[in-house]
Amino acid sequence: MNKILITGACGQLGSELTEELRKRHGNDYVIASDISEPKSSLSTGPFEHLDVLDRDRIEEIVDKHNIGTVYHLAALLSATAEKNIHFAWKLNMDGLLNILNTAREKSLERVFWPSSIAVFGPDAQKVKTPQTAACNPTTVYGISKLAGEQWCAYYHNKFGVDVRSLRYPGLIGYKSMPGGGTTDYAVDIYHKALEGEPFHCFLEKESALPMMYMADAVKATIDLMEAPSENITIRTSYNVSAISFSPEEIAAAISGQLEGFEITYTPDHRQAIADSWPDSIDDTPARTDWGWEPSFDLESMTDDMLKNLSAMLKEDE
Ligand code: SER
Repeated sequence: MNKILITGACGQLGSELTEELRKRHGNDYVIASDISEPKSSLSTGPFEHLDVLDRDRIEEIVDKHNIGTVYHLAALLSATAEKNIHFAWKLNMDGLLNILNTAREKSLERVFWPSSIAVFGPDAQKVKTPQTAACNPTTVYGISKLAGEQWCAYYHNKFGVDVRSLRYPGLIGYKSMPGGGTTDYAVDIYHKALEGEPFHCFLEKESALPMMYMADAVKATIDLMEAPSENITIRTSYNVSAISFSPEEIAAAISGQLEGFEITYTPDHRQAIADSWPDSIDDTPARTDWGWEPSFDLESMTDDMLKNLSAMLKEDE
């Protein structure tokens, strides 16, 4: 079997995807890579240092490990990208094009690339935003994701590269922290709640956003990648939806399980980003084409997060 390469494997999604794919295919078949030093959880299998802007290094790793599939996750998220717009564009675009060109030239079997709800802007329908809603993003991150989607479709149509993509909502998990996103508050809030500290939210209390529990995100990604090619009718990127909630609603879900939890609201520059995004997403094509269905709602996610995170925090003590 050809092996799997994951870029950005130290990130929030990368570390969990590496773990799950190693469980399914064996540790040696999944090569984790990142520009950062490897996290201890990645020590179960091979790791390569990789800057995705270095095309030669990508090809060297692909040849060395006989790579057939790439999950290309290395990128800057929305809030960080707004602070460094030119580097964000370079990393998010050139990184993707380096992977797509490598896939084309080396006839790789499959590529996964994450897009985001950030492709939508203020003129898209806010509630249950359809797959085909207008995509006029107002963030550099959103512009890079929208352009990336078009590059994926182009490389598929012109060169036959089997690249597949999901428009992720905010991702929430207990094993790793997100970095630089607008939806990050929904992970941090659980940490503060368990540490017994009040949570200072950088979004307004009624600011609803689409979100997804990590177990569902990993499942959606692998299900999409394992679907037969003929089922994939969308070669830009699929809407995928699971939960939608506001800071006030997630706080209420936590308060239901943890007495005395307190939250305050001080919106900062990330509020404008959140305001430009949908409240919730319609994902009918993903459900029809490859059977997508989420398992976690706000209650069951909160239950699982608090249980696992408190066990982890106790282990660290
Ligand atoms: N979670 C991402 C962000 O906030 C959205 O794709 O940037």
